[in-house]
Amino acid sequence: MILEIFLIIIIGLFVSYFIFLRIIRKLILSPAPAFIGRILDSDLRRKMQSPEKVIQRSGIQKGMQVLEVGCGSGAITTFVARAVGNKGNVYALDIQPEMLQQLENKLSQPENKDIINIKLIESSAYDLPFDDNSLDLVFMVTVFGEIPDHNKALQEIKRVLKPGGILAITEMFLDPDYLLKSTVTKKGGKAGLILDEISGSFWDYTIRFKNNAS
Ligand SMILES: C[S@@+](CC[C@H](N)C(=O)[O-])C[C@H]1O[C@@H](n2cnc3c(N)ncnc32)[C@H](O)[C@@H]1O
Repeated sequence: MILEIFLIIIIGLFVSYFIFLRIIRKLILSPAPAFIGRILDSDLRRKMQSPEKVIQRSGIQKGMQVLEVGCGSGAITTFVARAVGNKGNVYALDIQPEMLQQLENKLSQPENKDIINIKLIESSAYDLPFDDNSLDLVFMVTVFGEIPDHNKALQEIKRVLKPGGILAITEMFLDPDYLLKSTVTKKGGKAGLILDEISGSFWDYTIRFKNNAS
């Protein structure tokens, strides 16, 4: 009996914590605070959300010109840089200079000295400093729910994607800004993107869209 009560209390606290976090994030539509960069770029996070899986599900391949919108502290970015190889490039874009600074520090570490194909860009998802039809793939990991005007961001992404280019959106349930698959699918369709593939689980999924703009 005592164990059951204890379990109910723990579950109750856990659920309240997430409800509280989600309400706070809905009320304060600011980007995720930069201090969480360390948590995002931790081994524990990578165990829960493997960069290799994100790369495979997103369709990232050698030689691609890839833009990561909301790269944060770069938890996934260095893996993508190695996946696209020397002939590819990764443009790591974030609205917060503090996040980009964390990625820059990470890139200056000896174990990342071999990475020369990441370019850091401070900008917003609404204002991508790229020519029309210039990128093979754009991806976002635990970012989309944080952007207040989804359609504005999607139209801007569509503009910079080549015809047939890919937009991959990955969401994880533990993120207080998590969106359901159905919500992301609807928003992509509304923006004129073509649904390509949905992979992963309820907790951690990737939705891939294709840009059919010519
Ligand atoms: C929860 S973090 C995720 C970081 C990284 N993608 C990861 O998975 O570790 C969300 C990031 O998106 C960025 N962000 C939020 N809104 C943005 C916007 N409108 N344009 C560009 N970046 C944005 C935040 O600054 C933050 O670094």
